[in-house]
Amino acid sequence: MSATRREFLRQAAVAGGGALVAGAIPLRGMARPAVTMRPIAISSANGLRAVTKAMEMIASGSDALDAVIAGVNIVEDDPNDVTVGYGGLPNEEGVVELDSAVMHGPTHQAGAVASLRNIKNPSKVARVVMDRSDHVLIVGEGALRFARAHGFKEEDLLTEKAREAWLYWKEHLSNTDDWLPPHGPDDTDIGSLLPEPLRNEFGAFFRHTGTIHCSALDQKGNLSCVTTTSGLAFKIPGRVGDSPIIGAGLFCDNAVGSAGSTGRGEANLVNCSCRMVVEHLRTGKSPEEACLEAVKQIVEHNRLKRLQTPDGRPRFEVELYAINTRGEYGGARIYSGGKFSVHDGTTARHEPLAYLYKKEKN
Ligand code: GLY
Repeated sequence: MSATRREFLRQAAVAGGGALVAGAIPLRGMARPAVTMRPIAISSANGLRAVTKAMEMIASGSDALDAVIAGVNIVEDDPNDVTVGYGGLPNEEGVVELDSAVMHGPTHQAGAVASLRNIKNPSKVARVVMDRSDHVLIVGEGALRFARAHGFKEEDLLTEKAREAWLYWKEHLSNTDDWLPPHGPDDTDIGSLLPEPLRNEFGAFFRHTGTIHCSALDQKGNLSCVTTTSGLAFKIPGRVGDSPIIGAGLFCDNAVGSAGSTGRGEANLVNCSCRMVVEHLRTGKSPEEACLEAVKQIVEHNRLKRLQTPDGRPRFEVELYAINTRGEYGGARIYSGGKFSVHDGTTARHEPLAYLYKKEKN
């Protein structure tokens, strides 16, 4: 048990005279025990700069939502991260389509955009959807028009690196279509030829599902979160993953905690994974336990053979991250070897994710 958790239980026992179940988080509407808030920011592994920026802003008094959005904007702007914003891998037609959502704990409001083209910061547009419309989710052409109306600048988001990766993918689709790679595909191991961003532990199952999530607890004890992504590489145009879907790719309840995810969006969509994590937090589970419980449920629900390895395990990865109102944090994923980013006010660092299965080869 962490020192913070022990301290919380001690203070809860004193304040509540034993009325609270040990470790249980108060239901909405119940007064929170008087604990000192410890600001915290967590993110996916690609979010070290995001948590650094978020904590910098929180330390100077910013609301958690402003902080997490500013944090992920750094990665959205970075052409070297091929899973988010500018430079993200495109859809099957070579067009970059971005998804993002934000959720604000104190007001329990959210905004999201999906399949947004030509705007490199979908998280900023999602914020405007929340602040300047009566809607939560706007998609495609409507999202682009909404962004234009609010003065967002349009630009080509496809970098040379992403275009080359897309062309490589297209050329290796099969040896019976009209797209031919420079070398015959019959005698080559496509998985091993793929550039690093497209390779994963499942060889030929190489389509990238990277994303960035960031959740934070600010000095006032308020929670907020954001998830932003270019989605599944080479997806069918219009495909929407979990990232812009409240409850699937992110969720926060200001009285309980905040959660987010990266990895195979389809698995989170059919499990409402982040809402599930927050509900586990509500029962008093630690963030790591809550994420691990949700991972178990995702695996249990993975019933399609094409999504299973020969021994019945998932042929994909999902990572979940969570914080609670006491500033405790943690995360979990299906296979070993993962890490997440955290900043607790002292330093930004990676910490290991809990996991369900040990990966054969790391
Ligand atoms: N988790 C990102 C996506 O599947 O689009």
